Amino acid sequence: MNSKAIIFFSILFLFALLLIVVYLNSTDPFKNRPSQKAQTAGQEASNPHAHDPGLTLFEQNCASCHGPMGQGKGRYPALLNNRLSVDQIKAIIHKGKGEMPPFPKFKDQDLTILAQFVRRLQ
Ligand code: HEC
Repeated sequence: MNSKAIIFFSILFLFALLLIVVYLNSTDPFKNRPSQKAQTAGQEASNPHAHDPGLTLFEQNCASCHGPMGQGKGRYPALLNNRLSVDQIKAIIHKGKGEMPPFPKFKDQDLTILAQFVRRLQ
């Protein structure tokens, strides 16, 4: 084989390789694979507390004032990095504090879940 032929086949080979790469990228048969979808969904939900029952309770009862991530809003205080104990938070939720209304509806178990969630906010 002379050198021209070698160059010719090298270019042909590279071109074929390029075509294969383009083809694989455009028609990834695993694109819609459920596990990958789940991964993407997990990445979108960058919230570290996802699927936490405390988060659900917080979103339903507290986020309207304290913000969706407890970052506070206007005259409502942020709850991030708070130094309150679980028992102190439970008491505040149960009895209210200043402008914050009391939540007598929560059972002790829910208060604990909420208080532990609030303590972890950062
Ligand atoms: C209607 C608005 C409102 C809602 C709803 C609300 N809060 Fe509050 N919260 C406040 C206000 C206002 C304060 C500040 C009270 C004060 O210090 O006088 C406060 C204070 C707190 C504190 C004390 C913060 C600190 O550093 O002293 C905690 C903990 C707290 N809230 C948790 C919660 C939790 C958990 C919920 C949901 C169960 C909740 N709050 C729902 C308005 C609200």
